[in-house]
Amino acid sequence: MSASSPIRPVLPPDILARKGGTPLVVLTAYTTPVARLVDPHCDIVLVGDSLGMVLHGLPSTLGVTMDMMILHGRAVMRGLSRAMAVIDMPFGSYEEGPREAFRNASRLMAETGAPSVKLEGGAHMAETIAFLTARGVPVMAHIGLTPQSVNTLGGYKVVGRDAEAQKVMADAEAVAAAGAFAVVLEKVPEGLSARITQALPIPTIGIGAGARCDGQVLVVDDMLGLFTDFRPKFVKRYAELGAAASEAIAAYAAEVRDRQFPGPEHGFADVLPPKGAKP
Ligand code: KIV
Repeated sequence: MSASSPIRPVLPPDILARKGGTPLVVLTAYTTPVARLVDPHCDIVLVGDSLGMVLHGLPSTLGVTMDMMILHGRAVMRGLSRAMAVIDMPFGSYEEGPREAFRNASRLMAETGAPSVKLEGGAHMAETIAFLTARGVPVMAHIGLTPQSVNTLGGYKVVGRDAEAQKVMADAEAVAAAGAFAVVLEKVPEGLSARITQALPIPTIGIGAGARCDGQVLVVDDMLGLFTDFRPKFVKRYAELGAAASEAIAAYAAEVRDRQFPGPEHGFADVLPPKGAKP
């Protein structure tokens, strides 16, 4: 998009201004064609590190690298003209300290063109979030279930029931005070996520966190029925594209074996018809 483009892209201050308004629509994308599909409908497109599991067949997000995020981030940016991109900081690229986080966040932004990053963690990441935002890196935080910590959390469990609720609330308040422009609440009980949404001055984006958040995010391959290895309870399938693709591929295979494909309409004549002749 050029500076004179008539379509102004969504930017972090626009997202912040949507607090308490019409719910924010967020989906993931990892490729140019999917970015083109979601762009007209979404406020934010997340280049999530879920791409490690969804696209690359990894067992968790822990093996995702900076190079993978940059490759997919560039592809997504080519497909967006309106929605705001957020790019995930992969495991190991920001936890050591604010300076390492800035080095890698600025690389993600410079090499992809994405205007913001997301990182996982609550109060213990507040110093890093403040360091980044003070230096021109808009940060979306991610608390509750943080998949990069699956090994310390002991699985992909709901986070914030009973006594744990206080810690999740403290995490939410800490990332907001540090300057995050929005926060993802993943697998947080509904009542708690409603209280957090009410308490914070920044938008909450829920995934498995109930309907009272300021917005919702889903992994696009989950909601389209393209990723079927497992199905979290919070996923609603809006299409069954995986099943439709399987049927189409089986039909192609059968037609090739029966010599039904290609048909005459898919081939090329040996001799060109004379100019002006009807095809
Ligand atoms: O990586 C991802 O796709 C995410 C969303 C599930 C929020 O972090």
